Amino acid sequence: KRSKDQMIIDAGQKHFGAVVCKSCGMIYTAASPEDEAQHIQHHERFLEGLRYVGWKKERVVAEFWDGKIVLILPDDPKYAVKKAEDVREIVDNELGFKQVTLNCPAKTKMYLFVSNEKMIVGCLVAESIKQAFRVLSEPGAAQSPGQDALQHQRAWRCSAKPEPAICGVSRVWVFSLMRRKGIARRMVDVVRSTFMYGCYLSTDEIAFSDPTPDGKLFATKYCQT
Ligand code: ACO
Ligand code: ZN
Repeated sequence: KRSKDQMIIDAGQKHFGAVVCKSCGMIYTAASPEDEAQHIQHHERFLEGLRYVGWKKERVVAEFWDGKIVLILPDDPKYAVKKAEDVREIVDNELGFKQVTLNCPAKTKMYLFVSNEKMIVGCLVAESIKQAFRVLSEPGAAQSPGQDALQHQRAWRCSAKPEPAICGVSRVWVFSLMRRKGIARRMVDVVRSTFMYGCYLSTDEIAFSDPTPDGKLFATKYCQT
């Protein structure tokens, strides 16, 4: 499952001297050579994969004081699509998805949040869908994020009745050191205004697929407001 990160966090609680790398965000035990080796490997791969060089014809769909959102479509030049795939691989790895292929690559839109420091700090994969199954909220689940049992649970109860939807968000990810700055919120806002030409999608028309606990907290909050 979310093995790597989780294991390291657990290890950090058992041993003193757990540190967070200020560049790549990995938590590891500096005293453990094994951990340190793993960190060096992660560090380089991560920063290289998320480095954004940019290209002339990039599609900037939003600009902010702290960065911009770039949209990559399946028919874009190879280098752009390649970058999108590299980022998706890093994100999948963090989310614990193993070699998941996209349902339909031709219908996939990839939104990248690029910081002023030219690092990709947010990523959202959106696909066209026709229907979705609503996640049924367990009593009190979303309101009490402190409950550990719920935090580790991944299989949410879903309704059996399909409801019409237009846009499926199969992945939304924000770099660990940049969370709670409204990056995911701004990416979803931009998806709503750009996913379908000439339409502003309502929150009912967007579905988050198989959300993680973080994803569920975010989606619940986002859809209420
Ligand atoms: N706990 C509680 N509330 C949260 C959390 C959280 N972890 N994350 C977001 N929220 C709520 C808050 O109310 C927040 O507003 P506030 O900060 O003013 O209180 C609101 O959602 C908006 O949050 P953002 O700042 O826009 O969210 P962020 O940029 O931090 O990204 C995300 C959220 C993408 C879930 C991030 O935590 C992340 O990348 N997590 C790891 C990857 C992951 O689990 N992604 C979801 C997978 S599910 C899927 O892809 C469909
Ligand atoms: Zn690092």
